[in-house]
Amino acid sequence: MLLELRNLSVNFPGGPHPVTAVKGIDLAIARGEVLGLVGESGSGKSVTSLAIMGLLPPQARVSGEILLETNGSREDLLGLSREEIRRLRGSRMAMIFQEPMTALNPVMRVGEQIAEAVRAHRRLSRQQSSSLAVDALRQVAIDHPEQRASDYPHQLSGGMRQRVMIAMAIVNRPTLLIADEPTTALDVTIQAQILELLGKLRTQFGLTMLFISHDLAVVAGIADRVAVMYAGNLVELGPRNEIFRMPAHPYTRGLLKAVPTLSTERNRPLPTIEGSVPGVEAPPPGCPFEPRCDWRIPECARDLPPLAEVSPGHWARCPVATAR
Ligand SMILES: Nc1ncnc2c1ncn2[C@@H]1O[C@H](COP(=O)(O)OP(=O)(O)O)[C@@H](O)[C@H]1O
Ligand code: SF4
Ligand SMILES: [Mg+2]
Repeated sequence: MLLELRNLSVNFPGGPHPVTAVKGIDLAIARGEVLGLVGESGSGKSVTSLAIMGLLPPQARVSGEILLETNGSREDLLGLSREEIRRLRGSRMAMIFQEPMTALNPVMRVGEQIAEAVRAHRRLSRQQSSSLAVDALRQVAIDHPEQRASDYPHQLSGGMRQRVMIAMAIVNRPTLLIADEPTTALDVTIQAQILELLGKLRTQFGLTMLFISHDLAVVAGIADRVAVMYAGNLVELGPRNEIFRMPAHPYTRGLLKAVPTLSTERNRPLPTIEGSVPGVEAPPPGCPFEPRCDWRIPECARDLPPLAEVSPGHWARCPVATAR
């Protein structure tokens, strides 16, 4: 396994009430695999990814283990110093976000920004790093990369900016790429192009990817396996086709109903799951989905159900579903 999360929890103390955003997650991603992580807004997806990248704000309390394989040995990222994790970030692991403008410097030419990312990790001349930046722009299929390198971010479209951010992420050849809602801000056509690009880069560079989206349909296009989060808990995990053809957890079933199909009229509002994600600040003791669940039985409100294997490699946190 390239990356393994063991009993990962993230808590934000302080504020009006402490918030536990991630509750003891166990998850592993094999080298070269794309794991899709889905769940509604607020389920803890971004906090999980920021924990891996060492980018959580200082007040966050993180426990468990985040094991990353580097040079044949495994290291717990939570045990590394700020400087050590900074060195891994951008070289071994990189991240792309929903909104490239927040990651790009508005007053710096994009080629120079990518070249700077190169020099942060490798001792290369300006000329060498600039030429690697142009290569990276070419690899993300930007036309006329030499000319585009001297553009400022605002001169580029949203889709092009996302390509620049991907170029910056891959320029140092990371093994792990975390993509957090990378296509959410883009229109459908551009979204498909970016997904296609990520699929290509994955094969070309043997990337291992954690691909995060609130949208199961987007994840379906790229992931080998899918993990579903609800209110900080992992509620289902399995091979993509199983999750789509035989979802076990009632929450995953609800998410799937909300996915438009070719036969669904696109201009009709999507069905949604009734109710809302419970406040993470005061979680009920039982299954967190209980207040919204059509299948609930009295036991559901008592204890948090464990993840149980439905079929080989397919797990769900719902005894009612796994007994069916
Ligand atoms: N810095 C923070 N301080 C306090 N709470 C936070 C902070 N960051 C995230 N949270 C809370 O953690 C929960 C999960 O957030 P997040 O991981 O961003 O969800 P998602 O990415 O699945 O939409 C939310 O309830 C959010 O309000
Ligand atoms: S454990 Fe109970 S409440 Fe939770 S999803 Fe399963 S049936 Fe529904
Ligand atoms: Mg998020």
